[in-house]
Amino acid sequence: MNDNKKEIIRLLRVSEGESVSGQEIGEKLGITRAMVWKYVKALRKEGYHVRSSPKTGYILDAYPDRIDPDELRQLLRTTLIGGDIRYYDELESTNITARDIAAKVCEGTVVIAETQKKGRGRMGTEWQSIPGGIWLSIILKPSIPLENVSKITLVAGIAVAGSLRKNGIDAHIKWPNDVLVRGKKICGILTEVSAEVEKVDYVILGIGINANVRIADLKEEIRHNSTSIANELGKVIDRTAFVAELFYEFEQQYIRFKTKQFTDIIDEWVNLSDTIGKEVKVTTPSKIIEGKAVGITEKGALVVLDSNRKRHEIISGNCRYSD
Ligand code: BTN
Repeated sequence: MNDNKKEIIRLLRVSEGESVSGQEIGEKLGITRAMVWKYVKALRKEGYHVRSSPKTGYILDAYPDRIDPDELRQLLRTTLIGGDIRYYDELESTNITARDIAAKVCEGTVVIAETQKKGRGRMGTEWQSIPGGIWLSIILKPSIPLENVSKITLVAGIAVAGSLRKNGIDAHIKWPNDVLVRGKKICGILTEVSAEVEKVDYVILGIGINANVRIADLKEEIRHNSTSIANELGKVIDRTAFVAELFYEFEQQYIRFKTKQFTDIIDEWVNLSDTIGKEVKVTTPSKIIEGKAVGITEKGALVVLDSNRKRHEIISGNCRYSD
């Protein structure tokens, strides 16, 4: 999009529903009022609802529901996350594209797609990635041992739940990687890692949020256990602004993870947890453990006490609730 159009959108958005005169916009951009009007007409064709009144000026009533990478760059309050934004209308999977470019790009690079043809879920499942969602992957290059990588999933869960809560949604985290609202899934996180022996090369943090997804458009088998931000709030949200906030939340949590004790993070995770205190059945590649989830260890493992009060520490697995 041309720079003048971008700037007009920015000026109208920061005015938050107040009108901005053609004169003022023209002066800021160094163009005539007639040129401003020409750009406004072009923006209307692109789906921006710009109201105009000869007396007061222009008001932005609505904008197209897409993540706008230029606007996202302007909204960002981060120094690391989103420093490089790769935006696509459609991809096979943002995690795959992120993995393909990871070695060549800086930490904090993000890959975002409006839709994914082969969105990846955990345990080899398919992640339905239809228009209206937030499907993105963040490339991280932390200097941490391989065994600490699963903690990043917990950190990301806190960031997503925090962003949802800031939007008035009562989000909780189901171990290890789901964010739930009223017991229904609103977000899934898929962390993939490339490492040599003990050294982590990069981590791909894939985050999928049913933002403006219509629940009726989801597949029958997941529809009843899923929700979306729009479904919870009863209105479509501005996904660009949400992503900017999410990156900020995640960056704060990530800095804390790298610089502070993990115990602080555990406390916050437990406070947001949907899992602690519940009877669970956790399936790992080697065994199935049933019992009560009672906490998280220093290493980020879920602690389960079985019916013999034997303690199990599980670093990764598929968790189902028994009650
Ligand atoms: C889960 O099974 O709960 C994890 C789902 C993770 C989905 C996200 S969407 C963005 C990123 N790209 C993918 O292919 N998967 C993750």
